[in-house]
Amino acid sequence: MSIEELAETAQKLVAAGKGIIAIDESESTIARRFAEVKIDNSEENRRRWRELLLTTPKLTNHVSGAILFDETIRQKTADGTPFPKYLEKHNILVGIKVDKGTAALAGCPGEVVTEGLDGLRERLVEYYKLGARFAKWRAVIRIGEDIPSGTCIEANVHALARFAALCQEQGLVPIVEPEVLMDGEHDIEDCYEVTEAVLLSLFSALRDHNVLLEGTILKASMVLPGKDSDEEVDVEEVAESTVMCLKSSVPAILPGIVFLSGGQDDEEATAHLDAMNHIENLPWPLSFSYGRAMQQAALKLWSKDLAGNFSKAQAIVFERAKANGLAALGKWEG
Ligand code: 13P
Repeated sequence: MSIEELAETAQKLVAAGKGIIAIDESESTIARRFAEVKIDNSEENRRRWRELLLTTPKLTNHVSGAILFDETIRQKTADGTPFPKYLEKHNILVGIKVDKGTAALAGCPGEVVTEGLDGLRERLVEYYKLGARFAKWRAVIRIGEDIPSGTCIEANVHALARFAALCQEQGLVPIVEPEVLMDGEHDIEDCYEVTEAVLLSLFSALRDHNVLLEGTILKASMVLPGKDSDEEVDVEEVAESTVMCLKSSVPAILPGIVFLSGGQDDEEATAHLDAMNHIENLPWPLSFSYGRAMQQAALKLWSKDLAGNFSKAQAIVFERAKANGLAALGKWEG
């Protein structure tokens, strides 16, 4: 795989007005999402739900890539087309979540490290054959009393760098995702400081592991007060803090940054992205890689009538994609 091909894939992922739909929920996460709306968590229902999302008419107008889970990349549409083939035909790049989730970080109470490096090279070879051209690894950083520790940040960025180097070796663009969680009572300034420290450490680790930044995408969390904080901030403050934090820690050579929604409500996630794209002279395209903010309204509607609401739920997915695509251009009108 050439440097040019990796760079080309990365640029396609952040093409103007397009973003990524994240539908890579692990077994336990999709079980939780279905339980919330009382959908039976059968393999067939998971397949149908992912089919609904991926076959949304005109999704490609606003979506450049879809991140799938191991089960999903092996599933097919009702007419027997493998999902990766369907996506390829509709000009949507196939992505795959390759981390194996988090485990308690020994010696660091309350903190976690993401696992999944063992055997990763072989898994990437298979995913490439199945059609994947990019992959995602999510690290989780929690803010609390005396955390995150330097040890936790270091362990997580080291794993992200090893993941990224392996992906590029196998011809896949790595999406490095160090998620600073919204859980907690911290204020926006704490979130800023932690996010900046994590990103500085991440880009230093990527350099140490000879990761080519032109063929890498950052999936970032926004700089926000914790969910249980009383602090009130407006959309512009979130946008300005997030952009300033990124400017101080992310090299300009990176092809683009996409955001996770992280538990924000749908409109909020769109409004924040739109406001960031009103800021002038951004060094990179800023777009979306939303999971919940793309899916939750549609899932709720679908759950009420799986057969009858299929197309109506797709219309909601399209509306969310369109709104976020416009926000990626700073042209969302609310
Ligand atoms: P949310 O947008 O729901 O945070 O999910 C994005 C994601 O892929 C988390 O890893």
